[in-house]
Amino acid sequence: MLRIKNIHKEYRTGTLVQKALDGVSLSFRENEFVAVLGPSGSGKTTLLNIIGGLDHCDSGELIIDGVPTEKYKSRDWDAYRNHSVGFIFQSYNLIPHQTLRSNVELAMTLAGTGRSERRARAEEELEKVGLKDQMHKKPLQLSGGQMQRVAIARALVNQPTIVLADEPTGALDSETGEQVMQLLSEVAKDHLVIMVTHNPELAERYATRIIRGHQRADRFRLSCAEGRRAPEKAFHVLPDCAGFVGF
Ligand SMILES: Nc1ncnc2c1ncn2[C@@H]1O[C@H](COP(=O)(O)OP(=O)(O)O)[C@@H](O)[C@H]1O
Ligand SMILES: [Mg+2]
Repeated sequence: MLRIKNIHKEYRTGTLVQKALDGVSLSFRENEFVAVLGPSGSGKTTLLNIIGGLDHCDSGELIIDGVPTEKYKSRDWDAYRNHSVGFIFQSYNLIPHQTLRSNVELAMTLAGTGRSERRARAEEELEKVGLKDQMHKKPLQLSGGQMQRVAIARALVNQPTIVLADEPTGALDSETGEQVMQLLSEVAKDHLVIMVTHNPELAERYATRIIRGHQRADRFRLSCAEGRRAPEKAFHVLPDCAGFVGF
């Protein structure tokens, strides 16, 4: 349902040129929990931003539901970001002076949903993450784990097919980190979840596929590893994913 082919991205700052992605190809299934592991600076966030339409690559293809995005206009990207993708960030990115319910509702304002439906859907999503009874609180009255659960509710409220999480447990202690991972594994039963993480243990325990990034001569390289799960949950390395393992 989602493919990237031979993606290149570099950043130029003055005379400094930094290669963030150098020929990355991946295919994703409709429902899987993919963990992207790799050292800091290896291009993980860049990869996630390109997949989510927040940034564009220099060359290569992003193919969504079989449709190449090279001819996408800005309104196509807006529609993709607002309706197909939900984002979760390490620092939650909640608006401090708004209630939890308003924070979740806000995601639907951009998608053009009417007020009463916004309210009902925000409450429903907050209920799913176990926080409906606290919906009138403001983010700073919550623990980190609870804030991340609100961010998950916000990411899901527009019923996206893809959920992108950039180090979602990076600011959490191990126990609340586990809760967030459990929630994301539930989400991955009927979404594609792509999660960047620093934590190999969590990735191995919860993800159904692990993609590893290495920093070599300033290039990001990915490889695919089999998930260590029960056989029925094991994934197969996809052909075009295997293609760049032997770089
Ligand atoms: N906006 C930017 N401008 C210039 N360089 C950037 C920018 N974003 C990222 N980089 C550089 O690109 C490389 C990859 O960054 P990033 O994707 O954030 O890595 P990661 O998420 O794995 O830590 C790093 O060397 C980083 O310094
Ligand atoms: Mg990053």
